[in-house]
Amino acid sequence: MLSREDNELLTRTGRGTPMGDLMRRYWIPALFSNQLPEPDGAPVRVKLMGEKLVAFRDTEGRVGLLDERCPHRTASLFFGRNEECGLRCVYHGWKFDVEGNCVDLPSEPWDKDFKRKIKITAYPCLERGGMVWTYMGPPDLKPEFPEIEWTLVPDSHRYVTRHLQDCNWLQALEGGFDVSHLSFLHQGTADGPDGRPIAIPTRYEVVPTDYGMVSITGRDLPDGNSALAANVMLMPFHKLISTSPIGAHVWVPVDDNETMNYSVEYWPDRPLNAEELAESQDYSFIHPELLPGSDRAVLNKDNDYLVDRSLQKSGHSYTGIFGLGVQDCGIQESMGPVADRTIEHLGVSDTSIIQIRRMLLRILKDVADGGTPPGLDAKSYRVRSGRFTLAKGKPLSEGVHDFVRIKEPAFAK
Ligand code: FES
Ligand SMILES: [Fe+2]
Repeated sequence: MLSREDNELLTRTGRGTPMGDLMRRYWIPALFSNQLPEPDGAPVRVKLMGEKLVAFRDTEGRVGLLDERCPHRTASLFFGRNEECGLRCVYHGWKFDVEGNCVDLPSEPWDKDFKRKIKITAYPCLERGGMVWTYMGPPDLKPEFPEIEWTLVPDSHRYVTRHLQDCNWLQALEGGFDVSHLSFLHQGTADGPDGRPIAIPTRYEVVPTDYGMVSITGRDLPDGNSALAANVMLMPFHKLISTSPIGAHVWVPVDDNETMNYSVEYWPDRPLNAEELAESQDYSFIHPELLPGSDRAVLNKDNDYLVDRSLQKSGHSYTGIFGLGVQDCGIQESMGPVADRTIEHLGVSDTSIIQIRRMLLRILKDVADGGTPPGLDAKSYRVRSGRFTLAKGKPLSEGVHDFVRIKEPAFAK
């Protein structure tokens, strides 16, 4: 459990909150590149950590991400005209470029200096892995773009979707590192290779790293070796999943009650084949079916995820809810928009969750004391999740570091 104060500290992400300011030190996904398919196309609304923004691709193909409110009288730039290298407010014609400069102010023709005094908040953007990423922190502290493997492989090697979750980002991230739920929540949907429910691990450990941590689960084998899964947490809200193809999530706070869950599958060294893509697209795994034109899943909390109680009783599905991603989303939303962590009872199987909270609280304290957050070194992200055998007698942390580190990244060749 957590104190009320620590729960607030970890879950609040608005500008000026400790966690919000920490997240703003990293590059974070804002939207898909193909949501801005062409220069001078329609602007798109984006909300990140409670900030309402608007994204657009200018005449030169550059992506801008501006405060949605026009600094004149706060009209929405979503309705703006995207033309001649800038977004023009349709209320009185003020126009802004991707850097936030006011480049035209036609309503005040007698004051040539006025426009030089006007700036709109604009966040720098980069396109990587089919997505637009932004940096919302202090300009002089902007880090290099992290070398997250799935963002650097060719498009053919990667499949990415996103869906909204009606709950706080930390609930979603903790759900991702909650290992024992695999043996229950997803029973009937994601079972072991023998078709039986995934056995509850007997080892739960966490290895701290310079980019976050690695959550280790598994069991010791009769021969003295250990069969382990390494799931990686990258600061501030990424997971690399120990599946094949390799999976990943990014849980980006839309605001404190809503999270954009990006879900990824990729191969480092080859395209996803037709069969793998078909599996990704059948909605049974981490990519739920969406309502057309939206980021909301068809199975959502308004329809109780169309829970099928007879299927649940039949023994074929522990939840009676279709799809692993919807099961996760549904159960995490059921805890309320921001879970009350003061009333929990955590056990050994919650080791990763306990350690993630401790790590984040320690980082917040370090940063408040003037320290630098971990994971700002782009190359420290050259890591990969997966399953491995730890040889008898080899220290866990050594074995984990050896396994997760990408020795020769294909993308760096
Ligand atoms: S409110 Fe945008 S130009 Fe007046
Ligand atoms: Fe899950």
